[in-house]
Amino acid sequence: MAILIGGAWPYANGSLHLGHIAALLPGDILARYYRLKGEDVLYVSGSDCNGTPISIRANQEQTTVTAIADRYHQEFVDCFNKLGFTYDFYTRTDAEHHHKSVQEIFLKLLENGHLYTKKIEQAYCVVDEQFLPDRFVEGICPNCGAKARGDQCDNCSAILDPLDLIDKRCKICGTEPEIRETEHFYYTFSQFQRQLEDYVARTEQSNAWRDNAIQLTKRYLAEGLPDRAVTRDLPNGIDVPVTGFEGKKIYVWIEAVAGYYTASVAWGKENGLDIKQWWNAETTSYYVHGKDNIPFHTVIWPAILLGLNTEALPKHIVSNEYLTLEKRKLSTSQNWAVWVPDILQRYHPDSLRYFLTINAPETRDADFSWREFIYSHNSELLGAFANFVNRTLKFIEKSFDGKVPNVEVDEGKKAQVTELFEKVGQKIEAGSSKAALDTVFEFVRAANRYFDEEKPWITVREDLAACENTMATCTMLIQNFAVLLKPFLPFASEAIEDMLQVRGDAWEPQVTLAQTIVNVVPLYERIDVKQIDEELEKLTANEK
Ligand code: MF3
Ligand code: ZN
Repeated sequence: MAILIGGAWPYANGSLHLGHIAALLPGDILARYYRLKGEDVLYVSGSDCNGTPISIRANQEQTTVTAIADRYHQEFVDCFNKLGFTYDFYTRTDAEHHHKSVQEIFLKLLENGHLYTKKIEQAYCVVDEQFLPDRFVEGICPNCGAKARGDQCDNCSAILDPLDLIDKRCKICGTEPEIRETEHFYYTFSQFQRQLEDYVARTEQSNAWRDNAIQLTKRYLAEGLPDRAVTRDLPNGIDVPVTGFEGKKIYVWIEAVAGYYTASVAWGKENGLDIKQWWNAETTSYYVHGKDNIPFHTVIWPAILLGLNTEALPKHIVSNEYLTLEKRKLSTSQNWAVWVPDILQRYHPDSLRYFLTINAPETRDADFSWREFIYSHNSELLGAFANFVNRTLKFIEKSFDGKVPNVEVDEGKKAQVTELFEKVGQKIEAGSSKAALDTVFEFVRAANRYFDEEKPWITVREDLAACENTMATCTMLIQNFAVLLKPFLPFASEAIEDMLQVRGDAWEPQVTLAQTIVNVVPLYERIDVKQIDEELEKLTANEK
């Protein structure tokens, strides 16, 4: 079975923070899981190197857009690697292949009659002598009255025309922009209203979208989809491939989302594979992103795919809510954020993967606090899981000279493990990695209780057969945990398999027991709780 997984494309205009990872991590869990299931996985994403955010940064630092894009793209690649992300293809939107493919898509949409030109008014700043990109226009949201900017209100999620903002200001210089005429291409979103309504109705029954995606999309459809301009007067991006439109760029709405497809094409070429398998009506696709990206994936991208006459509409929408930091909204401008390159210098990637999954903002916002993070590492990851592994393997090392007793294991536990693969797999497939990981950890805690109840430190002297049975059973559990946790805690899983000298590469109960244990080392170190206050101090000291 072909599985396509698309992770959202982070803007290469600043470092990744934990909010990005909270949104994107479910994608890697899905990819790792489906590979273990033996499916044909294609997991793609890339850095968004086009558009305004990156121009702003380049202006601030008085350098080029390319210099900024190179710096952050490299940093993203590095962070994703350290976190164990397993993209099959991680590219960037300033890559030549992407530019070419997007222009082809644009021309195809034009040919299919879904793009038309229209003279429109746009905000123009006479001081800065330029048309203002959407995000450079700030004002009051006409829908809810909150402060808003650009093409979407952060407060009420309304999709906006920046011109409709009340009391508009240029973000660069603060003056009120003029309104000037310019010509742009419009996409016929309105023509797809009915098809999208049917699509969402079908989807709602299949439970394949997060509820936030269903609700928001139904709202957009209830309001009625207007045609919208999909080109812009921007310095940085993909040129509109039509004469008379020189200098204008294809807007992120078509351009970035199309990256899922263009990246697939490039990957297919590189590997000599036909990508149709991942791009047809039967393909199981997962689109993984934060809630601010929902309309990209549930309205805009499907409308473009329909305009291209493809039937490969998104199946699963895995759209997490937001992650707050110490109960406050993350803010990159105020530096109220935990930056990924920074946290990875001092903490284990599994600790982050664990925390951001077990506390994932799946149905409501979730909070990252240093206290919770460090306690979750110490008491759950280390205290429950790593400790069970360590006490078992140390025991075997000490009392059985590293040889796993070659005896039958507890039948009940064996049956429970089989059931666990079933249950956890279903939860991952349904897009709930949090519930899946919860289920494994419930069992990890039960395994610890089993160890305690069996009292091997007593039976080793009084009832050796019982002790052997306990140790074989615990080893069987550990060996299976290593596989069950591969999607979540890949580093620990690898370390366990090194110690057990086995490799479980399929999502199924591991029945051939490890024989010899080598180099038993603790999976994780305890984090000194003093670090809670240190981290908190750093956080507030760096706040702007
Ligand atoms: N870089 C854009 C953003 O962060 C788009 C990301 S998701 C995409 O909002 F699919 F649309 F690319
Ligand atoms: Zn609003």
